[in-house]
Amino acid sequence: MSFPFITAQQAAECVKHGDNVGFSGFTAAGTPKCVAPAIAAKAKKEHEEGRPFKINVFTGASTNDFTDGELARANAVNFRTPYQSCKDTRAAINSHAIHYADAHLSQLAQTLRYGFFGKINVAIIEAADVNDKGEIVLGPGAGNVPTFAQMADKIIIELNEHIPASIHGLHDIYVPADPPCRREIPIYKPSDRIGSPVLKVDPAKIVGIVKTNDSDHVHGFAPIDETTMKIGDNVCRFLIGELHAGRIPKEFLPLQSGVGNIANAVLHGLESAKEIPAFDMYTEVIQDAVLDLMEKGKCRFGSTCSLTLSDETMQHFFDNIDFFRDKVLIRPGEISNNPEIIRRLGVISMNTALEADIFGNINSTHVVGTKMMNGIGGSGDFTRNAYISIFSCPSVTKEGKISNIVPMVSHLDHSEHSVSVVITDQGIADLRGKSPIQRAEAIIENCAHPAYRPLLRDYLKLAKGGHTPHTLHAAFAFHETFATTGNMQDTDFGKYC
Ligand code: COA
Repeated sequence: MSFPFITAQQAAECVKHGDNVGFSGFTAAGTPKCVAPAIAAKAKKEHEEGRPFKINVFTGASTNDFTDGELARANAVNFRTPYQSCKDTRAAINSHAIHYADAHLSQLAQTLRYGFFGKINVAIIEAADVNDKGEIVLGPGAGNVPTFAQMADKIIIELNEHIPASIHGLHDIYVPADPPCRREIPIYKPSDRIGSPVLKVDPAKIVGIVKTNDSDHVHGFAPIDETTMKIGDNVCRFLIGELHAGRIPKEFLPLQSGVGNIANAVLHGLESAKEIPAFDMYTEVIQDAVLDLMEKGKCRFGSTCSLTLSDETMQHFFDNIDFFRDKVLIRPGEISNNPEIIRRLGVISMNTALEADIFGNINSTHVVGTKMMNGIGGSGDFTRNAYISIFSCPSVTKEGKISNIVPMVSHLDHSEHSVSVVITDQGIADLRGKSPIQRAEAIIENCAHPAYRPLLRDYLKLAKGGHTPHTLHAAFAFHETFATTGNMQDTDFGKYC
């Protein structure tokens, strides 16, 4: 190979204060392992010597502690986009130490190509293989790498020897043309291959190769408990009802499943739902539970942006690659989450809310209205364009002190116009074709926790005005009470009469 092998420290020297840096990977999978810590060490040294050093971090979605964690702790990040899930980055975002712009995952690549964020100075890309022609076999997460590589002045490759060579062939790399030249993206079923198994970059941009040998360190999920199991069962009950009613065709439709503990429980619910036939997934993340579904014949195919698998499950995947090879395609985020394709395929989206309001608006991102949790991720890409968009959450959290059904969401990510169904451990509120008042009744009676139903009914009685009644000074009474007493159940709507 004609590219020089360099150390992580030498690679970090290519990154300057103020640079826009694109990192490979998606929801940790395929994220570089050693150059970001070297950039963090450089930042610390620069700070000690009295010089400023901060970079602007662009990714596919969340990364690993080697990237977001190390950089945040070194105070090395000026700007961050799109999704993250690292506690140190989250703390820095909420204290304004990092400027964070939350963005729909499908949009960032084109937004960059349109020039809205300036150029990419350096792209740091994890690879399983690279050849002299600049053909790169990516790791298990494609993210926004094609656009980072296309736009970057310099490319640093992290060649990760931990990734088996058999990953070659799982990717489908495709970058759409930009307006006014864009045509349809020719995916007509989840398994359609439209691009290249390798990412082709200009070899002249590759400044060096850093060797690594490490896994993605993906964390497992919290064990499924009674609440998450009930949510999973209710989602399946809803899907079976739709199938019986003929609103979902008998061959079923592709499913998208969000991230996190609830999504994991929903996937487990699908496994045991005998009446749901084998299905395809058109989704952004394949997590451990999907491989189980594939092995049990329940999931036929998964189009994804990443294989976000625990180390053990990743090993299992590669040990059985002959079984999985024709069942998985890893695509860039702008294709895995593309609105045009989601709408064409009739994807059923299943995402998780932090809170839903009685009219069906959803907050997925901001804890009690102000503190960023992770970001909107791909939930907006899918929700707005889905055949049926489902949001689920537990009816209460923090031992019942927080109701996840509130009079008005304290932050809005998905509006009532895009949300078809809200599901909690208590039941199902089908919002399709319902007026705001009908939606409120369905959500309060079917989804709210019994401890909060009387309070929510009180609010609805108090709510005045037109089509969507509210009493604005009481609309955040749950949140205000929580801030004062630490328990939303202490809310007294009497004082707002
Ligand atoms: N108010 C305050 N905190 C709340 C809350 C609320 N209404 N609802 C949940 N929480 C807290 C939980 O208590 C938990 O806190 P902890 O970490 O201290 O235990 C945390 O939020 C996560 O909740 P959990 O019930 O474990 O859900 P999860 O792991 O399934 O994550 C989201 C839920 C919403 C944070 C997560 O799905 C997310 O980031 N979604 C946005 C992006 C997205 O949907 N991407 C997928 C598109 S493909």
